[in-house]
Amino acid sequence: MNSRRKFLHNTLLGGIALSAADLIRGSREILEKSDKSASPVVIATWGPNTKATAAAWDIISKGGRALDAVEAGARVPEADPEDTSVGYGGFPDRDGNVTLDACIMDELGQAGCVSFLQNIMHPISVARRVMEKTPHVLLTGEGAYRFARAEGFPHENLLTEVARKAWEDWKVRSEYKPVINVERHDTIGIVAVDQHNNISGACSTSGAAFKMHGRVGDSPIIGAGMFVDNEVGGAACTGLGEMVLRTLGSFLVVEEMRRGASPQKAAEAAIKRLVRKYPEQSKVAQVGFVAVDKKGRHGAYAIHKGFNYAIYQNNVNQVFESDYLLKKPD
Ligand code: GLY
Repeated sequence: MNSRRKFLHNTLLGGIALSAADLIRGSREILEKSDKSASPVVIATWGPNTKATAAAWDIISKGGRALDAVEAGARVPEADPEDTSVGYGGFPDRDGNVTLDACIMDELGQAGCVSFLQNIMHPISVARRVMEKTPHVLLTGEGAYRFARAEGFPHENLLTEVARKAWEDWKVRSEYKPVINVERHDTIGIVAVDQHNNISGACSTSGAAFKMHGRVGDSPIIGAGMFVDNEVGGAACTGLGEMVLRTLGSFLVVEEMRRGASPQKAAEAAIKRLVRKYPEQSKVAQVGFVAVDKKGRHGAYAIHKGFNYAIYQNNVNQVFESDYLLKKPD
């Protein structure tokens, strides 16, 4: 019996005896035999994340799994002290704590997330362990930290001197006003289609600078900061998480693609929805989506000018400026 028929046979006749691991292995066999005509691609929010798309492409180009690619990609800004909105070097909350959020999702629809995680440099890898080693999807705060330590992740001070100084300066006026595109390398959202035509995504951030202690944004929430569906495509986003949380933006982009929209039109639909629902907040907040579909086609769209994104495809790593909705008269 060929492996696909064997899997279906086992599932139908002996389902109760099958472990989750058996089912996942069987599903993966089917997925790996699926359409290979698509063009592998890695897409990530923000131009500086060409380093992340390069790390991901290195895995994809050798026939590796999209899941490994997006994890490797997200780890790049997480370890970069000069990136002040992801991982090490991220700006702290208003009490001086660097708190991190991340999520990851694979081609089988499995997901892992961590939120409000402190002193661990690679929340994306902890999120993957949550997915692979626990019966849960999301661990938060102290529980996420303890799990990470038990898994061997080192305790690290993530507050750099630059970030500490920025926090000291912020405390002088203590005004919470996120600035549109201020760093041009906010949250990393990264989605990849591999040579087996499988899709995975990841998202990682230190969240809004000088947020309230305990604030969690869109990035660790499946469907908000990132979502993939291996039948359709994937999406991820950057920007003011509160707006995305209220609209489950990445899920919306994927559902638009499911209904037949191109990745570009799907990203546009999500931004239009967001602006229609929150017209006043949209004037002062940025959100940008990136999207890819099962064929490796891609798109991006933002509320405001200034969002850019990195694409690695056909061995070329490029940065594109995103189109945007709220165009101001010259
Ligand atoms: N998009 C990242 C955040 O708002 O936390």
